[in-house]
Amino acid sequence: MDQMSVAIVGGTGNLGSALALRLGAPGVKIIIGSRDAEKARNAVETLKAKLRAGEIAGTTNKDAVKEANFVVIAVPYEGHAQMVSDLKGQLSGKIVIDTVVPLKKITPFVPTAGSALQEAQQILGDEAPVIGALHNISAVDLGDVDSPLGDVLVCGDNADAKQKVMEIIERIGATAYDGGPSAQAYVIEGLTGVIIHLNRKYKSKHGSIKITGVAPH
Ligand SMILES: NC(=O)c1ccc[n+]([C@@H]2O[C@H](COP(=O)([O-])OP(=O)(O)OC[C@H]3O[C@@H](n4cnc5c(N)ncnc54)[C@H](OP(=O)(O)O)[C@@H]3O)[C@@H](O)[C@H]2O)c1
Repeated sequence: MDQMSVAIVGGTGNLGSALALRLGAPGVKIIIGSRDAEKARNAVETLKAKLRAGEIAGTTNKDAVKEANFVVIAVPYEGHAQMVSDLKGQLSGKIVIDTVVPLKKITPFVPTAGSALQEAQQILGDEAPVIGALHNISAVDLGDVDSPLGDVLVCGDNADAKQKVMEIIERIGATAYDGGPSAQAYVIEGLTGVIIHLNRKYKSKHGSIKITGVAPH
C-alpha cells in the first residue's frame, strides 16, 4: 500500500485513540479528529507518549479528513448520521471505514437504513465507499499494542475498498475476514451487543470474536 494517511473522526475517544496506537508505523500519518481542535491536540499529546512510530496530528473532524485517504468514523451512533452529513462533500476519492454500532445504552438495534454502514452509504451516495470494520474488537486490547487481537469481519459492497481495509486490519495485527456485503452489516454491528453482554457477565474488557473452520490466507 502507498503512503497511508488515516483520519479518525472521533479519534479522541476509546476506539479511535486505541486504533491510532495500532496504526502507528513508519510512513503512516494519523490525524485525530474532534469536534474541538484543542481537544484533538490534547489527545495527540497523550498519544505521542505511547506511539511507537508514524506521524500524528490533531484537528477538527472536518480538517482531519481533508488530508487523509482513509477516514475512520468512530463516534457514538447518536452522532453518526449528522457527522457523516457534515463530512459529505469532502470524502471524494477516500475510503470510509465505519466502526459504529447502533446501541440504545448497551442494547443494539437496527436503524431505518438497515445498519450504520448503510446509513452512511445512503448519506454519501457515490461520493465514497463505506466499509464496516472493527465493530467486534475490544478497544482495550486495541490500545495495548502487544495484546493479541480477535478477528475482524469486514463488510461492504465495494470489493476494492474492502480489500484495502482488510489490508489495514492485517497491518494492525488482527485477522481480517470478508464478512460479505453491506446487507450483512446489521449482524456484525449487532454482535457487539452480545460481546458487551459477555464482558459484563464474565467481568472482562477483552470480549471479541474468533472465526474457526475457514482459512483466510
Ligand atoms: N469502545 C469500543 O470498544 C468499541 C468497539 C467497537 C466499536 N465501537 C464503536 O466505535 C464508536 C466509538 O466508540 P467509543 O467507545 O470510542 O466512543 P466514545 O469514546 O464515547 O466517543 C468517541 C468520540 O466521539 C465524539 N463524540 C461523542 N459524541 C458525539 C456526537 N454526538 N457527535 C459527534 N461526535 C461525538 C467524541 O469526540 P469529540 O468530543 O472530541 O468530538 C468522543 O471522544 C461507537 O460507535 C462504538 O459503537 C467501540
